[in-house]
Amino acid sequence: MIDVEKCRITHYPAEVLAGRAKPVEKIDDNIRQLVQKMTDIMLENKGVGLAAPQAGVPLRMFIISLAGKRENVKVYINPAIVPAGEFDTIEEGCLSVPGVHTKIRRYKKCTVTATDLDGNKFTEEAEGLYARALQHEFDHIEGTTIVNRMSQVAKIAHRRQLKKLEEQK
Ligand code: NI
Repeated sequence: MIDVEKCRITHYPAEVLAGRAKPVEKIDDNIRQLVQKMTDIMLENKGVGLAAPQAGVPLRMFIISLAGKRENVKVYINPAIVPAGEFDTIEEGCLSVPGVHTKIRRYKKCTVTATDLDGNKFTEEAEGLYARALQHEFDHIEGTTIVNRMSQVAKIAHRRQLKKLEEQK
């Protein structure tokens, strides 16, 4: 049982962001409450995606709303991602790494297969910003953040902010 009231945004270098999350075993009211809470956290912070570890919960699920609106929130439970195509290197941010925007290399396309909140499995092809958001959120449930993916040069450029976050832990 997840105490949803206690869920808060987690920041690098929190341990929950660095571990591989566990599969969701049952989609019940508790998971539905968690999705509501994750949506609140995402919208409060003006994000377009949020993974459960970013709310302090090590489960394999995330939400995305590229429009940043509650009615557009899509839920991905136990997702799998197959990347495809060429790479793009575009600047990204992450609600769990505040104050850092850095170029990240990702596939231009991907296919996502996941289960929704009603328990239905679905598959979607994605490209552009959507494909990037899916790969970013999937990274979170694998314990990877933009800090792991940024170049050495970017790490040096952002060292002050990263150090500040490390000291706030
Ligand atoms: Ni993120």
